Amino acid sequence: MCGIIGYIGNKDPVPILLKGLKRLEYRGYDSSGIALLQDEKLAHIKRAGKVSDLQSLVDDSSIHGNCGIAHTRWATHGIPNDINAHPHLDHTGNIALVHNGIFENYETIKTLLEKRGVQFTSDTDTEVIVQLISELYYNNEKLTFENSVRAALQEVVGAYGIVALCADEPNKIIAARMGSPLVLGVGEGEYFLASDASPIIEHTRNVIYLDDDEFVIIDNEEYSISNIQSKKIVSKTLTRIDLSIEEIEKGEFPHFMLKEIHDQKHSISDTMRGRLNLFDGTTNLGGIVNYLPNILSASRIYITACGTSWHAGLIGKHLIEEYARVPVHVEYASEFRYRNAIIDPNTIVIAISQSGETADSLAAIKKAKELGATTLGICNVVGSSIARETDAGIFTHAGPEIGVASTKAFTAQVTVLIMLALNIGRKKGVSKDRGKELISSLKTVDQDVINILRSIEDIKEVAKSTSMANHYLYLGRGINFPVALEGALKLKEISYIHAEGYPAAEMKHGPIALIDEKMPVVFIAPQDDTFYKVLSNIEEVKARGGIVITITDKINSSIKSLSDFVLLVPKTHKYVFPITSSIILQILAYEIAVLKNCEIDQPRNLAKSVTVE
Ligand code: AGP
Ligand code: GLU
Repeated sequence: MCGIIGYIGNKDPVPILLKGLKRLEYRGYDSSGIALLQDEKLAHIKRAGKVSDLQSLVDDSSIHGNCGIAHTRWATHGIPNDINAHPHLDHTGNIALVHNGIFENYETIKTLLEKRGVQFTSDTDTEVIVQLISELYYNNEKLTFENSVRAALQEVVGAYGIVALCADEPNKIIAARMGSPLVLGVGEGEYFLASDASPIIEHTRNVIYLDDDEFVIIDNEEYSISNIQSKKIVSKTLTRIDLSIEEIEKGEFPHFMLKEIHDQKHSISDTMRGRLNLFDGTTNLGGIVNYLPNILSASRIYITACGTSWHAGLIGKHLIEEYARVPVHVEYASEFRYRNAIIDPNTIVIAISQSGETADSLAAIKKAKELGATTLGICNVVGSSIARETDAGIFTHAGPEIGVASTKAFTAQVTVLIMLALNIGRKKGVSKDRGKELISSLKTVDQDVINILRSIEDIKEVAKSTSMANHYLYLGRGINFPVALEGALKLKEISYIHAEGYPAAEMKHGPIALIDEKMPVVFIAPQDDTFYKVLSNIEEVKARGGIVITITDKINSSIKSLSDFVLLVPKTHKYVFPITSSIILQILAYEIAVLKNCEIDQPRNLAKSVTVE
């Protein structure tokens, strides 16, 4: 969570930092701030609210400098107000620091510093580190600024990406990473440090992804990267990023979420490009080729992920167990990392993550690796921590996803899981014809998405009739139960309507008590082998007066008579249906949120990339 950016170079840092914050704002948006070094003095402005609020203050000020740092926050410690916003300064006002992460032992250090007379102004964990750096620096003649930062970092426990400035050293920026992402952009006589590459790419395409325990010093146009403790220089490779600016802007769309829903006209096939082999009824997945022997001989697979990616994992379980006949356990990364799961060298652990930076998923993969498992990543962001930490993986190629509610990343994840399941399955005896049947349906998915997008007006009608509901229920069976969970998550995230996803047949064991004439119930009901069972569940809801919204691929007379609304998904393979039906649910959530005037791309309390525990 939260976005950090630093700039040093010969340009005015203010517009670079503010535009950078705008690009990073999806990561956190409860307050923001900027600090600049000018004439060996630090000037700073911070404000609760969006980056645009900070921008107005900065525009009205004469703040300038030759280098600077900025931050857009998602509060963990201390409410979002002006004081708790970053950058945080030490008591002398000479050192400023921005932080992404949590310093877990901040209270112990704070008590110690308070005993020594240091007075704190904020409630954050972050201020503790800047005061500690200051304490070390000003009370130790031998310690340089950079070594004071190193020494302070050795005292802290937790996760951080930090960037720091000191007025005594006006041409220097220090940064370090442990657990939270940080990218160094290397331009012509200028450098950038940021939580991700999005604020950097309009200035330079050359970046270095920092790893844990790495410490960056940028000093008078030179940079060095070393280990935090040992100070040993680490040699890193420059990566060239080929992301286009259009991909990270919303263009003609009012919201990133809507743009990203529309992107699914091509993002699913972008994910499949070069990977489908219709002739042999299989898929080519270059990223995992070297680990195929481990995958084929594995006795069990764990899929670990959070939120939407976890829902994709549940769909993956169905697919892998169906085609590859190996047991798959799907676990929330936050649980998996702390439990004694049965992991050995015969286990494959797959982390699914759009950002590739989710702290819990990253920790889960690290743990799995330690226990000897083969680890695979299904990530959208190339160069992300999970992509780099795993032994091998398959990128989703959905393109940058900025809207906090995940849409195209989810459908791309499911697409990868279909390809993975088929790939393993074909090697384990699934027939070529079964493979061909699935691939043929995958090949027409672009057109299916286009047809779904043509039915937006029908979905808007449903939104209009139900946006005043306080609760929503989503029901599906088998592979479509996770689709129900995902539909419910989309709605609660962006419209703040309480929604639950349930296996359709489980409804009668409890949730049915909630149903009354005000309760919309979405059924995900393709004409597959569970169709008639789901139809009975629809009857049960109708009998209790609920508002029935059915999402199906074939309308028959019973569906028509029982449903208040029917939304049609183009006929496709039963394992491609979760992709297409979830797009309808994304649009439904979006349209309801529009009617409720919600902040769709930046829903309250949330952030896109959850880099804290
Ligand atoms: C999705 O709409 C959510 N905002 C959230 O659940 C998300 O999927 C989760 O935080 C995992 O993120 P990741 O895929 O980047 O790891
Ligand atoms: N822990 C810091 C704070 O609350 C940083 C939060 C974050 O990384 O989102 O201010």
